[in-house]
Amino acid sequence: MGDRLRGRVALVTGASQGIGRAIALRLAREGADIALHVRRDDDRARESAGAVAALGRRCEVVAADLAGVAAVSHVMAQVSSRFTHADILINNAGLERRADFLSVREADYDAVLDVNLKAPFFLTQAFAKTLIAAGRPGKIIHISSVHEELPFPNFTAYCASKGGLKMLMRNIAVELAPHGITVNNVAPGAIRTPINAALLDDPERLRQLVGQIPLARMGDPEEIAAAVAFLASSDADYITGSSLVVDGGLLWNYQEQ
Ligand code: BGC
Repeated sequence: MGDRLRGRVALVTGASQGIGRAIALRLAREGADIALHVRRDDDRARESAGAVAALGRRCEVVAADLAGVAAVSHVMAQVSSRFTHADILINNAGLERRADFLSVREADYDAVLDVNLKAPFFLTQAFAKTLIAAGRPGKIIHISSVHEELPFPNFTAYCASKGGLKMLMRNIAVELAPHGITVNNVAPGAIRTPINAALLDDPERLRQLVGQIPLARMGDPEEIAAAVAFLASSDADYITGSSLVVDGGLLWNYQEQ
């Protein structure tokens, strides 16, 4: 698999399952040590950490609910105290709540926006400060979604968060470039992860969705992780301010009925 990331330290949020877990494993396979952020330090988190460690890399678990700036500062402080530095930040943690627009409650809006947008905003700010203070370059990658572009009825708070991540990425790509820090998004389509558990259990919805995907299948977390590893490596040193869509063609598929 190569060792493009040897000697680097990567912080991956939301890494106990799904896309985050696959990213942690892929970056470790390419040589990085991993700060594995999880919401709760439970069996699932320890299983992920064990899988990273089994690859021969150092793995430190940092547990925190990412709601609020204090929690985000705590995560960064933990990473700095356990590793001398981190070079790569993957803002992956995210959630979605289904409700038609007219029924969205403030608590649901806050839950989605806090984790999907506010936490990446302030974690990135804290991370960038550590890089700049140390005079080190760095790579920041947000896991957004095709829904940073594409409407997703009944998921308006989710779409607002992902659209926000797109402009967060573009803005700070410009502001952080003079410090040697690149910022990009990976925008997954429909991927086989726990966020899609209900869909995966519903053959009719699944058939309709797969019918909208030109490559005629859902993606695997490892296919997102491969794109992240590329953007985190020096192969992507000249890429900043971009969204890399990994969706089997879903985003641009328009079919007349
Ligand atoms: C959402 C999934 C959805 C997929 C494709 C993702 O961002 O989390 O629920 O299936 O986009 O629409």
